Amino acid sequence: MVFKLRKAEPKDVPDILRLVKELAKYEAMEHQVMLTEKDLLEDGFGDTPFYHCIIAEIQEESSSDDLNVVGFAMYYFTYDPWVGKQLYLEDFYVMDKYRGLGMGSEILRHLSDLAVKTRCTGMMFVVAENNEPSVQFYKRRGAEDLSQEEGWRLFRFDKDSLVKMATHSEE
Ligand code: ACO
Repeated sequence: MVFKLRKAEPKDVPDILRLVKELAKYEAMEHQVMLTEKDLLEDGFGDTPFYHCIIAEIQEESSSDDLNVVGFAMYYFTYDPWVGKQLYLEDFYVMDKYRGLGMGSEILRHLSDLAVKTRCTGMMFVVAENNEPSVQFYKRRGAEDLSQEEGWRLFRFDKDSLVKMATHSEE
């Protein structure tokens, strides 16, 4: 099967949201996806993109010339005051039917190239504890489990907490 990777464009927003939802469903957290296509369009393709996406698309032999989006990775850059630039892998997903064909590895290769070129010192990501296939997928490629090895815990202030702490609460 022929597939290619490319940078996401505004026209990909419906497919990005579809795949975001599929991944959330895979993680049994679909109800937590609040984002709309409008949000994704504004946040990823405005003056200050808050995220970037790599799209994996295939050409179905049976169908017309249409390319189909079957996988993606959403990422952005963060900064670690000890070691500098980091590529943060936020979402990474290939549709069930197309797994095991090397697309995921190719996406990681692409992101690793990008990270090296932009002089990042690492690629960070969070994996759900019960997502054992992905934990093993990353470990086979040399990823370290920092929660286990270094004892970091993942925290969040939700919107209510932010509003409580903020000087001016939302109008
Ligand atoms: N399904 C999954 N894996 C398979 C399958 C199959 N049907 N068949 C074989 N495999 C093996 C491959 O041999 C390969 O083994 P390797 O690690 O020894 O190379 C590996 O599983 C898959 O490698 P690829 O084909 O390169 O990757 P793929 O295109 O399947 O994409 C991904 C990997 C994105 C993890 C995909 O399996 C997926 O979408 N999983 C479900 C969602 C998920 O867990 N995403 C990651 C969440 S963590 C995050 O987003 C930061």
